Amino acid sequence: MRLILLGPPGAGKGTQAGKIAKKYNIPHISTGDIFRANIVNNTELGILAKKYIDNGELVPDGLVMDIVRDRIIQDDTKNGFLLDGFPRTLEQAMALDEMLINSNMKLDAVVKIKVNLDLLVTRITGRRICKECGATYHVDFNKPKKSDVCDLCNGELYQRSDDNEDVVRNRINVYIEQTTPLVEYYTNRDVLKIIDGEQSIDDVFNQIVKEVE
Ligand code: AP5
Ligand code: MG
Ligand code: ZN
Repeated sequence: MRLILLGPPGAGKGTQAGKIAKKYNIPHISTGDIFRANIVNNTELGILAKKYIDNGELVPDGLVMDIVRDRIIQDDTKNGFLLDGFPRTLEQAMALDEMLINSNMKLDAVVKIKVNLDLLVTRITGRRICKECGATYHVDFNKPKKSDVCDLCNGELYQRSDDNEDVVRNRINVYIEQTTPLVEYYTNRDVLKIIDGEQSIDDVFNQIVKEVE
């Protein structure tokens, strides 16, 4: 199964990706997570990416493509993969198509998680993430049992540096300008599935499974 998750910041891509990856036994490939791991490790890529991410701008296409190209040919992608937060521009989508053709691979579905824009800021500013395992919580909508501690691994929860209100508003605008053209792009390829992302986390998941199978 080869899937793409599309949707604005805070739509629930990461939350659903964890569940989908587990169900279909495919790797969850999040370009955002890859950048954040590079920032933590202070790599050259991390240093370059950080200034874009902290302003809510997109990292240049060239850097993103290098990462994805390396990642989707690794051994664990034999059963497929789930791309979260990539592609985000038409250039990235076209480059991905070319990579897939060259490797004789085909996309099964592009799942767009649709959420009203005014819900996104609340979702993002209340998000907390586990430092150890990356599990995602929300202070109101998906509370950990003990505040600031991960239910799964007891790790400490933190807030992303780009999860403040100003940066979130810019991320939403960047999404509207640069990523929404992909909706038409994938509609024309007959692979787009639109999911109502305002349901409970489990209901969103069940709807995705129904649409992709
Ligand atoms: P990235 O990490 O991809 O961030 P994003 O797209 O802004 O999306 P988020 O991770 O913020 O939201 P999400 O949809 O995953 O929501 P989540 O499930 O966590 O990218 C970060 C940055 O990296 C970009 O700004 C850019 O600079 C750079 N970058 C990355 N990829 C790039 C690319 N391809 N090209 C160029 N630059 C790139 O959920 C959010 C919250 O809501 C959580 O608290 C969750 O618990 C809660 N929630 C989830 N579902 C529900 C629900 N159904 N009901 C109630 N609450 C819910
Ligand atoms: Mg995410
Ligand atoms: Zn954890």
